[in-house]
Amino acid sequence: MNDTPFVHRSLLALGVVAAAWMCLGPEEDPAVMRGRQLFDRAFAKAEGLGTPEMNADTCRGCHSDPVLGGAGALELNVTRFGRDNGGVGPFTDLPGGQGLSKLRPPLDPWREEAAAQADCFEQRQTPTLLGTGLIDGVFDAAILANEDPNDLNSDGVRGVARRVTVNGVVEIGRFGWKAQIPRLADFARDAMFFELGITTPDDGRGFAPAGDGDAIPDPELSAQQTADVHAFMAALPAPQRVGSTDPLVALGQQVFGEVGCTKCHVPELQGVNGSVPLFSDLLLHNVMPAGYRGMAEPNAGVGMFRTPPLWGIRDTAPYMHDGRAETLFAAIQAHDGEAVAVRAAFLARPAADQNALLLFLADL
Ligand code: HEC
Ligand code: HEC
Repeated sequence: MNDTPFVHRSLLALGVVAAAWMCLGPEEDPAVMRGRQLFDRAFAKAEGLGTPEMNADTCRGCHSDPVLGGAGALELNVTRFGRDNGGVGPFTDLPGGQGLSKLRPPLDPWREEAAAQADCFEQRQTPTLLGTGLIDGVFDAAILANEDPNDLNSDGVRGVARRVTVNGVVEIGRFGWKAQIPRLADFARDAMFFELGITTPDDGRGFAPAGDGDAIPDPELSAQQTADVHAFMAALPAPQRVGSTDPLVALGQQVFGEVGCTKCHVPELQGVNGSVPLFSDLLLHNVMPAGYRGMAEPNAGVGMFRTPPLWGIRDTAPYMHDGRAETLFAAIQAHDGEAVAVRAAFLARPAADQNALLLFLADL
């Protein structure tokens, strides 16, 4: 059509005027839009992809269920490698660290020697990133308030915050299955390097090496691009409640509290944006069966995992750090250790109460 260019120009002009006096929502924020593109696109070797290792060429490759930035399926699990003397302990890192590899064992030559020494492994599932911006804003004090490392109330549930030392200062870890990373911005650098093999500008906090020794000049991503990836993740809305008015959902919520799930999956934590309804205390607990073999990190021993948030849980099967539970019922059954009494209380309830609790979880 002949007049198409004219129409486009006037619409564009209208758009510019509108944008000038309307408040931009997070979706239209240019940094978020650029970050979304970076998160969604496949990087090329010429851009620095893949040194020293890579698990995928794009963030989207794992974080995509049910939307971009979401969780990932079982076959996307990555594996960590360590040594624990055939289960006798103590746990030690392999030369070069635990790795985070989709290959089992890692085939990269630089890790071949290390892989040969590995005698224990831990699978890690891809968690959803929805709501991570709100989790970033949760007050440290709100997390620390629920700690009970010495089980002073004798309920078997302990709970300890993950302490991560950054430049000599202790910070509270909140991201990753062992809450190993304090800030969402730190995870943008960490994931770029360890999942994609892309270097980012050194921000002095130490969560990713600044150089990787390939032929592409470092940093392979600019400071602006790195900030954009962070902005995209921070703007991902938290999963919304289904909001069912079925009385069974309300009953399920009551049972959830009565059997003691809320001891760890606390309904909300306060943060800079107000109340965050994540159903987690963001503390480390050991809910693994006795004799569990897996990775240890400083201030997060073998079997210690962060209580996962339960918002949006209906969309993120399978469950638990390694994806060993296919259903929500199996996830509850898989709780042991600190949660053994709570699991028993759940299993002692009539089937109708158990089903109501499952309906409540599916509403979150
Ligand atoms: C191969 C699959 C895979 C790819 C690709 C991937 N991730 Fe992840 N992501 C994971 C896994 C697995 C974890 C949990 C890691 C752990 O705790 O050990 C994770 C955790 C995270 C977390 C922490 C979420 C939380 O609440 O704890 C963030 C943030 C994140 N990834 C961002 C990214 C970004 C940004 C990219 C692209 C640069 C990316 N990921 C690429 C698998 C992947
Ligand atoms: C002692 C603390 C504690 C208690 C009590 C507890 N949980 Fe958990 N929950 C955890 C931890 C820690 C994990 C992660 C374990 C892992 O990854 O292996 C988890 C995982 C889960 C998961 C899987 C989440 C995911 O994203 O994979 C669900 C669902 C869940 N819990 C529901 C419940 C319900 C329902 C109850 C009550 C019957 C309950 N939990 C009681 C600490 C607890």
